[in-house]
Amino acid sequence: MPITYDEELRCFALHGDNVSYVLAVDGEPGGAVGARVRHRYWGPRIADSDLASLLYDLPTPGWSGTWSRPRAHTEEYVVHGGLRYDECALKVDFPDGVRELELEVTGHEVAGEELSVSLVDRRYDFHVVLHYRVRPAQDAVDRWVELANEGAGSVVLQRIASATWPLPQRPGPHLTSLVGRYAVETQLTRQRVNPGVHVLESRRGIPGHAAHPVVAVDYAGERGGAAGTGASEEHGDVWSVALAWSGSWKISTQLAGDGALHVTAGVNDFDLRHELAPGDRLTLPVTTGIFSPAGFGGVTRRWHSYERSYVDPRPGVDRPVSYNSWEATFYDVECGQQIELARRAADLGVELFIIDDGWFRTGPGDESSLGDWRPAPHRFPNGLRALADEVHLLGMRFGVWVEPEMLNRDSDIFRAHPDWVYRMPGRTSHEVRHQLVLDLGRAEVQDAVLAALDDLVGSGDVDYLKWDMNRPLGTVGTPVAGAVWWNHVVGVHRVIDRLRARHPDLWIETCASGGGRADLAILSRTELAWPSDNTDAADRVAIQRGYSFVHPASSMLCWVTDVPAHLTKRTAPLSFRFHVAMSGVLGLGGNLLSWGEEENEQARRYVAQYKKIRSTVQHGQLHRLEPSHGRDSSGICHISADGSEVAVFVFARAVAATAFEQYVRLRGLDPKASYVDTRTGRVMSGALLHSRGLVVELKGDLASALLTLRRL
Ligand code: GLA
Repeated sequence: MPITYDEELRCFALHGDNVSYVLAVDGEPGGAVGARVRHRYWGPRIADSDLASLLYDLPTPGWSGTWSRPRAHTEEYVVHGGLRYDECALKVDFPDGVRELELEVTGHEVAGEELSVSLVDRRYDFHVVLHYRVRPAQDAVDRWVELANEGAGSVVLQRIASATWPLPQRPGPHLTSLVGRYAVETQLTRQRVNPGVHVLESRRGIPGHAAHPVVAVDYAGERGGAAGTGASEEHGDVWSVALAWSGSWKISTQLAGDGALHVTAGVNDFDLRHELAPGDRLTLPVTTGIFSPAGFGGVTRRWHSYERSYVDPRPGVDRPVSYNSWEATFYDVECGQQIELARRAADLGVELFIIDDGWFRTGPGDESSLGDWRPAPHRFPNGLRALADEVHLLGMRFGVWVEPEMLNRDSDIFRAHPDWVYRMPGRTSHEVRHQLVLDLGRAEVQDAVLAALDDLVGSGDVDYLKWDMNRPLGTVGTPVAGAVWWNHVVGVHRVIDRLRARHPDLWIETCASGGGRADLAILSRTELAWPSDNTDAADRVAIQRGYSFVHPASSMLCWVTDVPAHLTKRTAPLSFRFHVAMSGVLGLGGNLLSWGEEENEQARRYVAQYKKIRSTVQHGQLHRLEPSHGRDSSGICHISADGSEVAVFVFARAVAATAFEQYVRLRGLDPKASYVDTRTGRVMSGALLHSRGLVVELKGDLASALLTLRRL
């Protein structure tokens, strides 16, 4: 049973294969503090016979005002009110000016893998339902909250996080996050958690480049005051939390002076003013907590399994090898030239051809026609279909870039509906990239955007959209009631959902100037994500390592582009560029018109090789490796779902003097099975490959290897 309820203890235990999550009700209905939901445990799986021992809090001096009462890490959902001073999840203003909540449990329901606990304010008709869902095979717990105002006046929501995640009180907590900036997204970072509140967030209306909405916590212990090492790739307990929200978000980690720790995850309360009118309900986004007793590698593989089972709209479906013409032609797009690129791409084995920005622009550059999703006549005199037909004849699918939330001033849509953009009377309408933002919280704007995309997909014979979003929201004035930052995200989701319902075969790629919007909510609506505009393969290694910390390779689109790289001017060998891109979803993004026969020949070989290993890479188990020559080298291996195929990638930024050969210890193999190295024919046991490893030869700067093994 994934959920057990002990009636006598009033205790709920949610069990996954390796995890237990326990909450309990204490206090009496109508009593001094009422019946409350208390957090009791989250960690390695325990027995139901342990539950009685969990109903105990370490004592906190009652005479000291230092501590909140109750302590945040002992509550399931911290609200603002009473003697609570820690990061809270929920804060509301009632119509009569009361600004505190006093919630009391009114009931619960267990249905299979789901539990809900209902609460109501002790004085106002304001209802909160805490929802839980166990995903046993992934050791995951989904949590979300439903709010309902059944009172006579409007309630203003000031803070609406989806969950409080209390973490164990162990010494030396460390926080792993995916932080960065434009073109340097998802840098895997681990730092000590210091007392106080550490906030990771976005206030921009998209998840943003500065941080990805996911964290992981492990504990390094204290040895003579110095931090120990904590969890490793394969060992140790790790807790991870992510938020499925495609807009402004906030994950705060608060460490109290005595080591009590809790994480609060939800939509950002920055500029939040959400009015809940009488009768209104609001369902907050899902936040998921995963526990791994098998280190960071275990966390990664649980997230991958979670996404494949519950997020990916096309699980197990091979992603095509694509070509995108952005870096080849930028805005300077024209039908004949794109047809020529498509012919070259098809000749190399490409299966999906994507025309990027520019095709609709009536002028040069980025100042015109954004928002008018019609091909510019001087670029496509016979419409987009002329290109689509040619691409289809070449046996490829046809994809088109769009940025549906945006428009230029110089566009028909802006001339017809200047009132459809976010603005505030008397305030400056700021432009970024000459763009304004459509108020997608409005139903008529959603309808218009949907109609335009529907028409484009239908009349252009489009199989794939790259949905971009290149500027943050700002000056978000709107005539629509409700919370504008929230409504925008709901509007985007709605348009995508309706478009997908109308075109079930349409694929979508999520992009926001690179990896600015790749949360679990958008990834449930898109097949691929563009992790970064930085296509420099050397930088990509770290960006992809961070991205794939949570997301499987099946959504990680990677292009091989020309050198010097567009954003860094760095040069890397073609082999390195291919290997880095082949460890995700391979795409080409160079100017194929200038590729010579030698490059083409190599590209054909790599594309063909990729097609042989792509199921393993895209749908297999990922293990991060630690090559013996350390610092400048990194490796990953992908093992196919049935364990029979193994693809090993090794990358070195620079090879040290005479250190041309190194051992790369593999992970995740069956120690008792035998594996053949398909290149040399040498047979080795899984045990040897784990303990000593493969010998890999690398020479020079930006050296790489791709080795494949087959289980005998
Ligand atoms: C963004 C995307 C790029 C490209 C350009 C087009 O920067 O991240 O891949 O599509 O927009 O303007």
